[in-house]
Amino acid sequence: AIQGFIFDVDGVLTDTAEYHYRAWQRLADEEGLPFDRQANEALRGVSRRESLMHIIGIRQYSEAQLQAMMERKNRYYVESIATITPQNLFPGAIELLTELRQAGIKIAIGSASKNARTVIEKLGIGNLVDAIADGDSVEAPKPAPDLFLYAAQQIGLEPDRCVVVEDATVGVRAAIAAGMRSIGIGPITRVGAADIVLPNLIGVHLVDLQAQLKLAPE
Ligand code: G6P
Ligand code: MG
Repeated sequence: AIQGFIFDVDGVLTDTAEYHYRAWQRLADEEGLPFDRQANEALRGVSRRESLMHIIGIRQYSEAQLQAMMERKNRYYVESIATITPQNLFPGAIELLTELRQAGIKIAIGSASKNARTVIEKLGIGNLVDAIADGDSVEAPKPAPDLFLYAAQQIGLEPDRCVVVEDATVGVRAAIAAGMRSIGIGPITRVGAADIVLPNLIGVHLVDLQAQLKLAPE
């Protein structure tokens, strides 16, 4: 049976996927680079560097310029998360985390963001998670399985005992590559490859997930 849940953060537990988008949009506008919400779809769950490479397209920049742009985007993003409070948790998140905890399920965070730990603390859920795998934990970004494998290791579980909760296509692909089950939050066009697809975390219960994953509850 399932013994661990690995939660992505941005776009799963809170609306920071939107904050990442706005920070990139601001940078792109300042640089005169074409970018919009539609183009941002390709950036969901993607690392900071890869996101920037996507936005600049064929334009050439020096490494120093790239670094400066990544720092600038991060500054905008960090400014935007300063006001996050537990109120910013998506509906249903605290209920699910609490239920999993009470059921003895291990909970890990599996986010590509170097800011994930700050967001978790600001959301007030640090006490509900057993381990945090973030943007500093591994080299290879999603869709490589490395981050989720690292998270599973941190909570002492084999990959096939873990379920990943993700809002990004690359995240679901990473979960599959890691040999884990997956719950996709969002539209089928984004997370249709997941074992279970849900619109959000409202009213989500462990027994239902286990049944849908065809696993006997322990
Ligand atoms: C997550 C987000 C991405 C973000 C990446 C890196 O995967 O979904 O939008 O680009 O983390 O975040 P960071 O805070 O390290 O720039
Ligand atoms: Mg995400």
